Amino acid sequence: MCGIVGYVGKHNPKDFLLEGLKTLEYRGYDSAGIALKNNEETQIIKSVGKIKFLEEKVNNSLLIDSKIGIAHTRWATHGAPTENNAHPHCVGKVTIVHNGIIENAREIKDKLKVNFNSDTDTEVAAALIDYYYDGDEISAISKAVTELTGSYAFGILFEDSDKLYAVRKGSPLIIGINDKENYIASDITAIINYTNKYILLEEGEIAVLSAELVKVFKDGKEIKKDVIIADISAEAKSKQGFDHYMLKEIMEEPMLIENTLKPFVEDMSLIPDLKKYSEIHIVACGSAMYAGMIGKALLEEKASIRVICEVASEYRYKKVLYDKNTLVILVSQSGETADTIAAMRKAKEEGADTLAIVNVKTSTIARETDKQIFIEAGPEIAVATTKAYILQVAIFGLLAYKAASLNNLADEVKKLPRYVKEILDNRDLYLKIANEIYKDNDVFFIGRKTDYAICMEGSLKLKEVSYVHSEAYQAGELKHGTISLIEDGTPVFGIITDDDIRDKTISNIEEVKSRGAKVIIVSNKKVPGYDMEVIVPKISEFFQPILVVPCLQLIAYEVAKLRGCDIDKPKNLAKSVTVE
Ligand code: M6R
Repeated sequence: MCGIVGYVGKHNPKDFLLEGLKTLEYRGYDSAGIALKNNEETQIIKSVGKIKFLEEKVNNSLLIDSKIGIAHTRWATHGAPTENNAHPHCVGKVTIVHNGIIENAREIKDKLKVNFNSDTDTEVAAALIDYYYDGDEISAISKAVTELTGSYAFGILFEDSDKLYAVRKGSPLIIGINDKENYIASDITAIINYTNKYILLEEGEIAVLSAELVKVFKDGKEIKKDVIIADISAEAKSKQGFDHYMLKEIMEEPMLIENTLKPFVEDMSLIPDLKKYSEIHIVACGSAMYAGMIGKALLEEKASIRVICEVASEYRYKKVLYDKNTLVILVSQSGETADTIAAMRKAKEEGADTLAIVNVKTSTIARETDKQIFIEAGPEIAVATTKAYILQVAIFGLLAYKAASLNNLADEVKKLPRYVKEILDNRDLYLKIANEIYKDNDVFFIGRKTDYAICMEGSLKLKEVSYVHSEAYQAGELKHGTISLIEDGTPVFGIITDDDIRDKTISNIEEVKSRGAKVIIVSNKKVPGYDMEVIVPKISEFFQPILVVPCLQLIAYEVAKLRGCDIDKPKNLAKSVTVE
Protein backbone atom coordinates (compact mmCIF):
# COMPACT_ATOMS: atom_id res chain seq x y z
CA MET A 1 0.00 0.00 0.00
CA CYS A 2 1.97 2.98 -1.35
CA GLY A 3 5.61 2.44 -2.22
CA ILE A 4 8.52 4.72 -1.41
CA VAL A 5 11.96 4.70 -2.91
CA GLY A 6 14.69 7.32 -2.58
CA TYR A 7 18.32 7.75 -3.63
CA VAL A 8 21.33 9.87 -2.83
CA GLY A 9 24.69 9.11 -4.43
CA LYS A 10 26.95 9.65 -7.40
CA HIS A 11 24.55 8.99 -10.29
CA ASN A 12 21.40 10.55 -11.64
CA PRO A 13 18.73 8.62 -9.71
CA LYS A 14 16.05 8.65 -12.44
CA ASP A 15 16.48 5.05 -13.63
CA PHE A 16 17.00 3.65 -10.14
CA LEU A 17 13.84 5.35 -8.90
CA LEU A 18 11.69 4.16 -11.82
CA GLU A 19 13.00 0.62 -11.47
CA GLY A 20 12.37 0.74 -7.71
CA LEU A 21 8.80 1.89 -8.28
CA LYS A 22 8.22 -0.98 -10.70
CA THR A 23 9.45 -3.43 -8.08
CA LEU A 24 7.07 -1.93 -5.54
CA GLU A 25 4.10 -2.07 -7.94
CA TYR A 26 2.89 -5.22 -6.20
CA ARG A 27 2.06 -3.20 -3.08
CA GLY A 28 -0.87 -1.65 -4.93
CA TYR A 29 -1.18 1.89 -6.36
CA ASP A 30 -3.21 4.12 -8.61
CA SER A 31 -0.77 6.94 -9.41
CA ALA A 32 2.94 7.59 -9.20
CA GLY A 33 5.46 10.39 -9.08
CA ILE A 34 9.12 11.31 -8.85
CA ALA A 35 11.11 14.31 -7.58
CA LEU A 36 14.73 15.08 -8.53
CA LYS A 37 16.68 17.88 -6.92
CA ASN A 38 19.89 19.85 -7.37
CA ASN A 39 21.19 23.06 -5.82
CA GLU A 40 19.02 25.23 -8.04
CA GLU A 41 15.70 23.48 -8.29
CA THR A 42 13.45 20.50 -7.58
CA GLN A 43 11.62 18.93 -10.51
CA ILE A 44 8.46 16.92 -9.81
CA ILE A 45 6.73 14.71 -12.38
CA LYS A 46 3.55 12.75 -11.64
CA SER A 47 1.00 10.69 -13.49
CA VAL A 48 -2.16 8.70 -12.90
CA GLY A 49 -2.27 4.97 -13.59
CA LYS A 50 0.56 2.61 -14.41
CA ILE A 51 4.22 3.43 -13.89
CA LYS A 52 4.79 3.15 -17.63
CA PHE A 53 2.82 6.42 -18.00
CA LEU A 54 5.11 8.10 -15.48
CA GLU A 55 8.11 6.65 -17.28
CA GLU A 56 6.91 8.08 -20.63
CA LYS A 57 6.44 11.49 -19.03
CA VAL A 58 9.81 11.38 -17.34
CA ASN A 59 11.54 10.39 -20.59
CA ASN A 60 9.79 13.19 -22.50
CA SER A 61 10.50 15.92 -19.97
CA LEU A 62 13.79 17.64 -19.58
CA LEU A 63 14.99 16.24 -16.29
CA ILE A 64 17.45 18.25 -14.29
CA ASP A 65 20.94 17.06 -13.56
CA SER A 66 20.66 15.52 -10.12
CA LYS A 67 22.18 13.07 -7.66
CA ILE A 68 19.29 12.89 -5.22
CA GLY A 69 15.61 12.02 -5.58
CA ILE A 70 12.49 10.43 -4.15
CA ALA A 71 9.66 8.56 -5.83
CA HIS A 72 6.30 7.14 -4.84
CA THR A 73 3.42 4.92 -5.85
CA ARG A 74 0.17 6.14 -4.28
CA TRP A 75 -2.81 4.05 -3.15
CA ALA A 76 -5.44 6.74 -2.64
CA THR A 77 -6.75 7.40 0.87
CA HIS A 78 -7.32 11.18 1.25
CA GLY A 79 -8.46 12.43 -2.15
CA ALA A 80 -9.14 10.73 -5.48
CA PRO A 81 -6.35 9.12 -7.53
CA THR A 82 -5.58 12.25 -9.57
CA GLU A 83 -2.30 13.72 -10.74
CA ASN A 84 -2.70 16.57 -8.30
CA ASN A 85 -3.07 14.23 -5.36
CA ALA A 86 -0.17 12.01 -6.44
CA HIS A 87 3.11 12.38 -4.51
CA PRO A 88 5.69 13.96 -4.17
CA HIS A 89 4.14 17.06 -2.61
CA CYS A 90 6.08 20.27 -2.25
CA VAL A 91 5.28 23.05 0.21
CA GLY A 92 7.76 25.88 0.68
CA LYS A 93 11.20 24.32 0.97
CA VAL A 94 9.98 20.79 1.67
CA THR A 95 9.24 18.00 -0.81
CA ILE A 96 7.91 14.71 0.55
CA VAL A 97 6.56 11.27 -0.26
CA HIS A 98 4.39 9.48 2.29
CA ASN A 99 3.00 6.05 3.03
CA GLY A 100 0.28 6.00 5.70
CA ILE A 101 -2.57 8.20 6.88
CA ILE A 102 -2.33 11.41 8.91
CA GLU A 103 -5.46 11.28 11.03
CA ASN A 104 -5.36 14.87 12.30
CA ALA A 105 -4.65 16.44 8.89
CA ARG A 106 -7.88 18.46 9.05
CA GLU A 107 -6.94 20.18 12.33
CA ILE A 108 -3.39 20.91 11.18
CA LYS A 109 -4.70 22.30 7.91
CA ASP A 110 -6.92 24.73 9.80
CA LYS A 111 -3.98 25.94 11.86
CA LEU A 112 -1.56 26.52 8.93
CA LYS A 113 -2.16 29.50 6.68
CA VAL A 114 -1.26 27.73 3.46
CA ASN A 115 -3.03 27.41 0.11
CA PHE A 116 -3.15 23.71 -0.50
CA ASN A 117 -3.04 22.32 -4.02
CA SER A 118 -4.31 18.83 -3.30
CA ASP A 119 -6.83 17.00 -1.13
CA THR A 120 -4.13 14.94 0.57
CA ASP A 121 -3.06 14.59 4.17
CA THR A 122 0.51 14.34 2.83
CA GLU A 123 0.59 17.92 1.60
CA VAL A 124 -0.51 18.98 5.09
CA ALA A 125 2.42 17.05 6.61
CA ALA A 126 4.79 18.75 4.14
CA ALA A 127 3.37 22.14 5.15
CA LEU A 128 3.85 21.34 8.82
CA ILE A 129 7.49 20.38 8.34
CA ASP A 130 8.02 23.55 6.30
CA TYR A 131 6.29 25.59 9.02
CA TYR A 132 8.87 24.42 11.54
CA TYR A 133 11.84 24.65 9.18
CA ASP A 134 14.34 27.34 10.08
CA GLY A 135 17.48 25.77 8.58
CA ASP A 136 17.59 22.79 10.98
CA GLU A 137 16.10 19.83 9.13
CA ILE A 138 16.12 17.35 12.00
CA SER A 139 14.49 19.78 14.39
CA ALA A 140 11.76 20.60 11.83
CA ILE A 141 11.01 16.93 11.25
CA SER A 142 10.91 16.10 14.97
CA LYS A 143 8.65 19.02 15.82
CA ALA A 144 6.29 18.15 12.99
CA VAL A 145 6.03 14.44 13.70
CA THR A 146 5.26 14.97 17.37
CA GLU A 147 2.11 16.77 16.21
CA LEU A 148 1.03 14.11 13.72
CA THR A 149 -1.32 11.30 14.64
CA GLY A 150 -1.84 8.26 12.43
CA SER A 151 0.82 6.41 10.49
CA TYR A 152 3.59 7.53 8.22
CA ALA A 153 6.79 6.68 6.43
CA PHE A 154 8.22 9.87 4.93
CA GLY A 155 11.03 10.45 2.44
CA ILE A 156 11.91 14.15 2.65
CA LEU A 157 13.99 16.58 0.58
CA PHE A 158 14.79 20.14 1.74
CA GLU A 159 15.51 22.85 -0.80
CA ASP A 160 18.66 23.97 1.10
CA SER A 161 20.09 20.51 1.77
CA ASP A 162 21.84 17.93 -0.41
CA LYS A 163 20.77 15.13 1.97
CA LEU A 164 17.81 12.77 2.02
CA TYR A 165 15.76 12.48 5.25
CA ALA A 166 13.46 9.71 6.44
CA VAL A 167 11.21 9.07 9.41
CA ARG A 168 8.49 6.51 10.10
CA LYS A 169 5.73 5.48 12.46
CA GLY A 170 3.45 2.54 11.73
CA SER A 171 4.37 2.27 8.04
CA PRO A 172 7.52 0.40 7.00
CA LEU A 173 10.70 2.00 5.66
CA ILE A 174 14.24 0.71 5.39
CA ILE A 175 17.56 2.41 4.66
CA GLY A 176 19.75 0.68 2.05
CA ILE A 177 23.52 0.98 2.42
CA ASN A 178 25.98 0.89 -0.48
CA ASP A 179 29.31 2.28 -1.61
CA LYS A 180 28.94 6.04 -2.20
CA GLU A 181 25.19 5.73 -2.60
CA ASN A 182 22.41 5.11 -0.11
CA TYR A 183 18.71 4.52 -0.43
CA ILE A 184 15.35 4.50 1.30
CA ALA A 185 12.66 1.99 0.34
CA SER A 186 9.38 0.56 1.55
CA ASP A 187 10.94 -2.88 1.40
CA ILE A 188 14.14 -4.64 0.48
CA THR A 189 12.89 -5.92 -2.89
CA ALA A 190 13.15 -2.38 -4.32
CA ILE A 191 16.91 -2.21 -3.71
CA ILE A 192 18.07 -5.82 -3.71
CA ASN A 193 19.55 -5.48 -7.22
CA TYR A 194 21.92 -2.86 -5.76
CA THR A 195 22.61 -3.91 -2.18
CA ASN A 196 21.64 -6.50 0.40
CA LYS A 197 22.75 -4.32 3.33
CA TYR A 198 20.15 -2.31 5.13
CA ILE A 199 19.13 -0.64 8.39
CA LEU A 200 15.71 -0.94 9.97
CA LEU A 201 14.42 2.47 10.92
CA GLU A 202 12.49 2.26 14.19
CA GLU A 203 9.67 4.52 15.27
CA GLY A 204 10.94 7.81 16.67
CA GLU A 205 14.19 7.68 14.69
CA ILE A 206 15.16 10.13 11.94
CA ALA A 207 17.62 9.05 9.23
CA VAL A 208 19.86 11.46 7.34
CA LEU A 209 21.42 10.06 4.18
CA SER A 210 24.23 11.50 2.07
CA ALA A 211 26.22 9.67 -0.63
CA GLU A 212 28.92 8.76 1.89
CA LEU A 213 27.06 8.35 5.17
CA VAL A 214 23.86 7.31 6.86
CA LYS A 215 23.23 8.77 10.30
CA VAL A 216 20.29 7.94 12.53
CA PHE A 217 19.09 10.25 15.30
CA LYS A 218 16.79 9.65 18.24
CA ASP A 219 15.69 12.42 20.62
CA GLY A 220 18.19 14.75 18.93
CA LYS A 221 21.20 12.43 19.49
CA GLU A 222 22.97 10.26 16.94
CA ILE A 223 22.54 6.53 17.66
CA LYS A 224 24.30 3.41 16.38
CA LYS A 225 22.26 1.04 14.23
CA ASP A 226 22.92 -2.55 13.19
CA VAL A 227 23.39 -3.23 9.52
CA ILE A 228 21.34 -6.25 8.44
CA ILE A 229 22.21 -8.51 5.53
CA ALA A 230 19.10 -9.50 3.56
CA ASP A 231 18.90 -13.21 2.85
CA ILE A 232 16.93 -12.91 -0.39
CA SER A 233 18.52 -13.03 -3.79
CA ALA A 234 17.64 -10.82 -6.73
CA GLU A 235 16.57 -14.05 -8.49
CA ALA A 236 14.00 -14.84 -5.78
CA LYS A 237 12.01 -11.81 -6.81
CA SER A 238 12.01 -12.54 -10.55
CA LYS A 239 9.20 -14.37 -12.39
CA GLN A 240 11.61 -17.08 -13.51
CA GLY A 241 9.85 -17.66 -16.81
CA PHE A 242 6.30 -17.89 -15.46
CA ASP A 243 3.61 -15.67 -16.98
CA HIS A 244 2.68 -14.32 -13.57
CA TYR A 245 4.08 -14.15 -10.06
CA MET A 246 0.90 -15.77 -8.80
CA LEU A 247 1.57 -18.87 -10.89
CA LYS A 248 5.25 -18.95 -9.97
CA GLU A 249 4.41 -18.66 -6.29
CA ILE A 250 1.80 -21.44 -6.42
CA MET A 251 4.34 -23.69 -8.17
CA GLU A 252 6.87 -23.06 -5.38
CA GLU A 253 4.52 -24.56 -2.79
CA PRO A 254 5.85 -28.18 -2.74
CA MET A 255 9.45 -27.06 -2.24
CA LEU A 256 8.50 -24.47 0.37
CA ILE A 257 6.34 -26.89 2.36
CA GLU A 258 9.30 -29.23 2.56
CA ASN A 259 11.76 -26.48 3.59
CA THR A 260 9.46 -24.86 6.13
CA LEU A 261 8.37 -28.07 7.87
CA LYS A 262 11.73 -29.86 7.83
CA PRO A 263 13.24 -28.41 11.04
CA PHE A 264 10.02 -29.08 12.98
CA VAL A 265 9.78 -32.64 11.70
CA GLU A 266 13.37 -33.28 12.76
CA ASP A 267 12.85 -31.73 16.17
CA MET A 268 9.28 -31.50 17.43
CA SER A 269 10.44 -29.57 20.49
CA LEU A 270 10.72 -26.55 18.16
CA ILE A 271 6.93 -26.51 17.86
CA PRO A 272 5.45 -24.34 20.62
CA ASP A 273 3.31 -26.26 23.08
CA LEU A 274 -0.15 -24.71 23.03
CA LYS A 275 -1.58 -27.14 25.56
CA LYS A 276 -0.39 -24.92 28.38
CA TYR A 277 -2.86 -22.18 27.38
CA SER A 278 -6.46 -22.21 28.49
CA GLU A 279 -7.53 -20.01 25.60
CA ILE A 280 -6.08 -19.00 22.24
CA HIS A 281 -7.00 -16.00 20.12
CA ILE A 282 -6.01 -16.17 16.47
CA VAL A 283 -6.05 -12.68 14.97
CA ALA A 284 -5.28 -11.70 11.39
CA CYS A 285 -6.73 -10.17 8.20
CA GLY A 286 -7.91 -11.63 4.89
CA SER A 287 -6.33 -14.91 3.85
CA ALA A 288 -4.17 -15.00 6.97
CA MET A 289 -7.40 -14.98 8.99
CA TYR A 290 -8.79 -17.82 6.87
CA ALA A 291 -5.62 -19.81 7.60
CA GLY A 292 -6.36 -19.05 11.25
CA MET A 293 -9.89 -20.46 10.85
CA ILE A 294 -8.33 -23.77 9.84
CA GLY A 295 -6.07 -23.51 12.89
CA LYS A 296 -9.08 -22.91 15.12
CA ALA A 297 -10.96 -25.90 13.72
CA LEU A 298 -7.95 -28.20 14.18
CA LEU A 299 -6.99 -26.98 17.66
CA GLU A 300 -10.54 -27.30 18.92
CA GLU A 301 -11.35 -30.63 17.30
CA LYS A 302 -8.04 -32.38 17.80
CA ALA A 303 -6.62 -30.81 20.95
CA SER A 304 -9.76 -29.55 22.74
CA ILE A 305 -8.32 -26.06 23.21
CA ARG A 306 -10.75 -23.15 23.30
CA VAL A 307 -9.96 -20.88 20.33
CA ILE A 308 -11.35 -17.57 19.14
CA CYS A 309 -10.48 -16.58 15.58
CA GLU A 310 -11.14 -12.93 14.81
CA VAL A 311 -10.55 -10.37 12.08
CA ALA A 312 -7.91 -7.92 13.39
CA SER A 313 -9.86 -4.78 12.43
CA GLU A 314 -12.67 -5.92 14.76
CA TYR A 315 -10.50 -7.39 17.49
CA ARG A 316 -8.51 -4.19 17.95
CA TYR A 317 -11.61 -2.16 18.85
CA LYS A 318 -13.99 -4.62 20.49
CA LYS A 319 -14.17 -5.67 24.10
CA VAL A 320 -12.05 -8.79 24.29
CA LEU A 321 -12.20 -11.01 27.35
CA TYR A 322 -8.75 -12.32 28.22
CA ASP A 323 -8.34 -15.36 30.34
CA LYS A 324 -5.25 -15.06 32.57
CA ASN A 325 -3.63 -17.76 30.48
CA THR A 326 -4.32 -16.53 26.96
CA LEU A 327 -2.07 -16.82 23.93
CA VAL A 328 -2.71 -14.47 21.01
CA ILE A 329 -1.47 -15.77 17.65
CA LEU A 330 -0.94 -13.09 15.01
CA VAL A 331 -0.82 -14.43 11.47
CA SER A 332 0.65 -12.24 8.75
CA GLN A 333 2.66 -12.67 5.58
CA SER A 334 4.04 -9.13 5.56
CA GLY A 335 4.12 -8.59 9.31
CA GLU A 336 3.17 -4.98 8.56
CA THR A 337 -0.64 -5.13 8.35
CA ALA A 338 -1.82 -2.12 10.36
CA ASP A 339 -4.85 -3.79 11.97
CA THR A 340 -2.89 -6.91 12.93
CA ILE A 341 -0.15 -4.76 14.46
CA ALA A 342 -2.77 -2.87 16.50
CA ALA A 343 -4.32 -6.17 17.65
CA MET A 344 -0.87 -7.42 18.67
CA ARG A 345 -0.20 -4.29 20.72
CA LYS A 346 -3.60 -4.55 22.39
CA ALA A 347 -2.92 -8.17 23.36
CA LYS A 348 0.47 -7.21 24.81
CA GLU A 349 -1.05 -4.38 26.81
CA GLU A 350 -3.52 -6.87 28.25
CA GLY A 351 -0.64 -9.08 29.34
CA ALA A 352 -1.34 -11.95 26.93
CA ASP A 353 1.51 -13.99 25.44
CA THR A 354 1.94 -13.35 21.72
CA LEU A 355 3.10 -15.68 18.96
CA ALA A 356 3.58 -14.60 15.34
CA ILE A 357 3.20 -16.85 12.32
CA VAL A 358 4.93 -14.54 9.89
CA ASN A 359 6.96 -14.46 6.70
CA VAL A 360 9.00 -11.25 6.84
CA LYS A 361 11.56 -11.70 9.60
CA THR A 362 12.38 -8.04 10.06
CA SER A 363 8.74 -6.91 10.12
CA THR A 364 7.07 -5.10 13.00
CA ILE A 365 5.02 -8.15 13.99
CA ALA A 366 8.12 -10.39 13.94
CA ARG A 367 10.01 -7.90 16.09
CA GLU A 368 7.32 -7.10 18.64
CA THR A 369 5.80 -10.52 19.41
CA ASP A 370 7.13 -12.74 22.22
CA LYS A 371 7.69 -15.75 19.95
CA GLN A 372 7.76 -16.25 16.20
CA ILE A 373 7.35 -19.09 13.74
CA PHE A 374 8.72 -18.07 10.33
CA ILE A 375 7.04 -19.57 7.30
CA GLU A 376 10.07 -19.21 4.99
CA ALA A 377 7.99 -18.35 1.90
CA GLY A 378 10.60 -15.95 0.49
CA PRO A 379 9.32 -12.79 -1.20
CA GLU A 380 5.66 -13.05 -2.18
CA ILE A 381 5.07 -10.54 -4.96
CA ALA A 382 1.58 -11.34 -6.31
CA VAL A 383 -0.99 -9.34 -4.35
CA ALA A 384 -3.11 -12.46 -3.90
CA THR A 385 -1.36 -14.60 -1.35
CA THR A 386 -0.92 -18.27 -2.26
CA LYS A 387 2.30 -19.82 -0.99
CA ALA A 388 2.31 -17.82 2.26
CA TYR A 389 -1.27 -18.92 3.02
CA ILE A 390 -0.42 -22.60 2.39
CA LEU A 391 2.56 -22.37 4.73
CA GLN A 392 0.48 -20.66 7.43
CA VAL A 393 -1.99 -23.55 7.20
CA ALA A 394 0.89 -26.04 7.39
CA ILE A 395 2.13 -24.37 10.60
CA PHE A 396 -1.34 -24.63 12.14
CA GLY A 397 -1.29 -28.33 11.21
CA LEU A 398 1.98 -28.69 13.16
CA LEU A 399 0.70 -26.75 16.17
CA ALA A 400 -2.48 -28.83 16.35
CA TYR A 401 -0.55 -32.05 15.82
CA LYS A 402 1.74 -31.32 18.76
CA ALA A 403 -1.15 -30.04 20.90
CA ALA A 404 -2.96 -33.33 20.22
CA SER A 405 0.10 -35.09 21.71
CA LEU A 406 0.79 -37.09 18.57
CA ASN A 407 4.28 -38.02 17.48
CA ASN A 408 4.25 -39.58 14.05
CA LEU A 409 4.80 -36.25 12.36
CA ALA A 410 7.50 -37.37 9.94
CA ASP A 411 5.19 -39.97 8.35
CA GLU A 412 2.37 -37.46 7.96
CA VAL A 413 4.48 -34.70 6.51
CA LYS A 414 6.73 -36.77 4.25
CA LYS A 415 4.10 -37.20 1.54
CA LEU A 416 2.95 -33.59 1.43
CA PRO A 417 5.38 -32.05 -1.11
CA ARG A 418 4.91 -34.91 -3.57
CA TYR A 419 1.12 -34.82 -3.30
CA VAL A 420 0.99 -31.05 -3.72
CA LYS A 421 3.22 -31.34 -6.78
CA GLU A 422 0.88 -33.97 -8.29
CA ILE A 423 -2.06 -31.67 -7.64
CA LEU A 424 -0.34 -28.72 -9.27
CA ASP A 425 0.54 -30.85 -12.30
CA ASN A 426 -3.17 -31.35 -12.99
CA ARG A 427 -3.52 -27.95 -14.67
CA ASP A 428 -5.61 -29.15 -17.62
CA LEU A 429 -8.40 -30.07 -15.23
CA TYR A 430 -8.36 -26.63 -13.58
CA LEU A 431 -8.41 -24.93 -16.96
CA LYS A 432 -11.40 -27.09 -17.97
CA ILE A 433 -13.27 -26.08 -14.82
CA ALA A 434 -12.30 -22.43 -15.34
CA ASN A 435 -13.71 -22.60 -18.86
CA GLU A 436 -17.02 -23.79 -17.43
CA ILE A 437 -17.36 -20.91 -14.98
CA TYR A 438 -15.42 -17.87 -16.18
CA LYS A 439 -18.43 -16.20 -17.80
CA ASP A 440 -20.62 -16.55 -14.72
CA ASN A 441 -21.31 -13.61 -12.43
CA ASP A 442 -21.83 -15.39 -9.12
CA VAL A 443 -20.05 -18.40 -7.71
CA PHE A 444 -20.62 -20.16 -4.38
CA PHE A 445 -18.35 -22.31 -2.24
CA ILE A 446 -19.97 -24.54 0.38
CA GLY A 447 -18.55 -26.79 3.05
CA ARG A 448 -18.63 -27.46 6.79
CA LYS A 449 -16.03 -27.04 9.57
CA THR A 450 -12.47 -26.98 8.10
CA ASP A 451 -14.03 -27.35 4.67
CA TYR A 452 -15.90 -24.10 5.29
CA ALA A 453 -12.62 -22.36 6.18
CA ILE A 454 -11.20 -23.70 2.90
CA CYS A 455 -14.28 -22.28 1.11
CA MET A 456 -13.52 -18.82 2.54
CA GLU A 457 -10.06 -18.84 1.00
CA GLY A 458 -11.21 -20.39 -2.31
CA SER A 459 -13.88 -17.73 -2.63
CA LEU A 460 -11.56 -14.83 -1.72
CA LYS A 461 -8.94 -16.02 -4.19
CA LEU A 462 -11.48 -16.18 -7.01
CA LYS A 463 -13.00 -12.76 -6.37
CA GLU A 464 -9.76 -10.88 -5.81
CA VAL A 465 -7.99 -12.00 -8.98
CA SER A 466 -10.90 -12.55 -11.40
CA TYR A 467 -13.44 -9.96 -10.14
CA VAL A 468 -16.15 -12.65 -10.21
CA HIS A 469 -18.54 -12.21 -7.31
CA SER A 470 -18.33 -15.20 -5.07
CA GLU A 471 -19.50 -16.24 -1.62
CA ALA A 472 -18.47 -18.90 0.83
CA TYR A 473 -21.19 -20.46 2.92
CA GLN A 474 -21.46 -23.04 5.64
CA ALA A 475 -23.18 -25.78 3.66
CA GLY A 476 -25.98 -26.22 6.21
CA GLU A 477 -26.70 -22.49 6.37
CA LEU A 478 -27.43 -21.97 2.70
CA LYS A 479 -31.08 -22.91 2.95
CA HIS A 480 -31.66 -20.18 5.53
CA GLY A 481 -31.73 -17.54 2.83
CA THR A 482 -28.91 -17.59 0.31
CA ILE A 483 -30.18 -20.62 -1.57
CA SER A 484 -32.66 -18.22 -3.21
CA LEU A 485 -29.74 -17.03 -5.35
CA ILE A 486 -29.08 -20.48 -6.82
CA GLU A 487 -30.36 -20.61 -10.39
CA ASP A 488 -29.99 -22.82 -13.38
CA GLY A 489 -26.24 -22.98 -14.06
CA THR A 490 -24.97 -21.15 -10.94
CA PRO A 491 -21.53 -22.61 -10.18
CA VAL A 492 -21.27 -24.11 -6.69
CA PHE A 493 -18.04 -25.62 -5.40
CA GLY A 494 -18.76 -28.34 -2.83
CA ILE A 495 -15.71 -28.93 -0.61
CA ILE A 496 -15.83 -32.26 1.23
CA THR A 497 -12.79 -33.62 3.01
CA ASP A 498 -14.10 -34.22 6.51
CA ASP A 499 -15.51 -37.76 6.84
CA ASP A 500 -17.52 -36.88 9.94
CA ILE A 501 -19.83 -34.54 8.07
CA ARG A 502 -19.39 -35.88 4.57
CA ASP A 503 -22.96 -37.12 4.15
CA LYS A 504 -24.38 -33.88 5.55
CA THR A 505 -22.47 -31.77 3.03
CA ILE A 506 -23.44 -34.10 0.21
CA SER A 507 -27.12 -33.59 1.15
CA ASN A 508 -26.61 -29.82 0.91
CA ILE A 509 -24.95 -30.22 -2.45
CA GLU A 510 -27.95 -32.27 -3.62
CA GLU A 511 -30.18 -29.37 -2.55
CA VAL A 512 -28.39 -26.91 -4.82
CA LYS A 513 -28.06 -29.43 -7.62
CA SER A 514 -31.81 -29.96 -7.67
CA ARG A 515 -32.20 -26.17 -8.09
CA GLY A 516 -30.04 -26.23 -11.21
CA ALA A 517 -26.56 -25.47 -9.77
CA LYS A 518 -23.49 -26.40 -11.79
CA VAL A 519 -21.72 -28.37 -9.06
CA ILE A 520 -17.95 -28.80 -8.88
CA ILE A 521 -16.89 -31.30 -6.21
CA VAL A 522 -13.50 -30.93 -4.55
CA SER A 523 -12.97 -33.92 -2.30
CA ASN A 524 -10.61 -36.63 -1.16
CA LYS A 525 -13.12 -39.32 -2.19
CA LYS A 526 -15.34 -39.77 -5.25
CA VAL A 527 -18.89 -38.50 -4.79
CA PRO A 528 -21.16 -40.58 -7.05
CA GLY A 529 -23.30 -38.65 -9.51
CA TYR A 530 -21.01 -35.67 -10.19
CA ASP A 531 -18.79 -35.31 -13.26
CA MET A 532 -17.07 -32.06 -12.61
CA GLU A 533 -14.75 -32.99 -9.79
CA VAL A 534 -11.27 -32.62 -8.38
CA ILE A 535 -10.22 -35.61 -6.30
CA VAL A 536 -7.16 -35.09 -4.10
CA PRO A 537 -5.28 -37.74 -2.10
CA LYS A 538 -6.63 -38.46 1.37
CA ILE A 539 -4.16 -37.64 4.15
CA SER A 540 -4.24 -36.84 7.85
CA GLU A 541 -6.88 -34.21 8.67
CA PHE A 542 -4.13 -32.05 10.17
CA PHE A 543 -2.76 -31.42 6.70
CA GLN A 544 -5.66 -32.18 4.36
CA PRO A 545 -6.44 -28.49 3.56
CA ILE A 546 -2.94 -28.19 2.09
CA LEU A 547 -4.02 -30.52 -0.70
CA VAL A 548 -7.30 -28.76 -1.47
CA VAL A 549 -6.49 -25.06 -1.55
CA PRO A 550 -3.81 -25.24 -4.32
CA CYS A 551 -6.52 -26.55 -6.72
CA LEU A 552 -8.73 -23.58 -5.84
CA GLN A 553 -5.80 -21.19 -6.26
CA LEU A 554 -5.12 -22.54 -9.75
CA ILE A 555 -8.79 -22.44 -10.74
CA ALA A 556 -8.93 -18.77 -9.61
CA TYR A 557 -5.76 -18.10 -11.60
CA GLU A 558 -7.15 -19.70 -14.79
CA VAL A 559 -10.50 -17.88 -14.46
CA ALA A 560 -8.65 -14.56 -14.05
CA LYS A 561 -6.52 -15.33 -17.09
CA LEU A 562 -9.55 -16.18 -19.23
CA ARG A 563 -11.16 -12.91 -18.15
CA GLY A 564 -8.03 -10.95 -19.05
CA CYS A 565 -7.47 -9.59 -15.54
CA ASP A 566 -4.32 -7.99 -14.18
CA ILE A 567 -3.61 -11.12 -12.13
CA ASP A 568 -0.63 -10.02 -10.05
CA LYS A 569 -1.97 -6.55 -9.31
CA PRO A 570 -5.75 -6.69 -9.03
CA LYS A 571 -7.53 -3.35 -9.04
CA ASN A 572 -8.00 -1.54 -5.72
CA LEU A 573 -5.86 -4.03 -3.82
CA ALA A 574 -2.57 -3.55 -2.00
CA LYS A 575 -0.17 -6.28 -0.99
CA SER A 576 0.62 -4.89 2.38
CA VAL A 577 -2.27 -3.02 4.00
CA THR A 578 -0.39 -0.55 6.16
CA VAL A 579 -3.36 1.73 6.91
CA GLU A 580 -6.49 0.76 8.79
O1 M6R B 1 0.44 -9.46 5.08
P1 M6R B 1 -0.76 -10.07 5.73
O2 M6R B 1 -0.74 -11.56 5.72
O3 M6R B 1 -0.99 -9.55 7.12
O4 M6R B 1 -1.99 -9.61 4.85
C1 M6R B 1 -3.30 -9.92 5.23
C2 M6R B 1 -4.27 -9.69 4.10
O5 M6R B 1 -4.25 -8.35 3.69
C3 M6R B 1 -3.98 -10.60 2.91
O6 M6R B 1 -3.98 -11.94 3.24
C4 M6R B 1 -5.02 -10.34 1.79
O7 M6R B 1 -6.27 -10.81 2.19
C5 M6R B 1 -4.57 -10.99 0.49
N1 M6R B 1 -4.77 -10.09 -0.61
C6 M6R B 1 -5.33 -12.21 0.15
O8 M6R B 1 -4.86 -12.79 -1.03
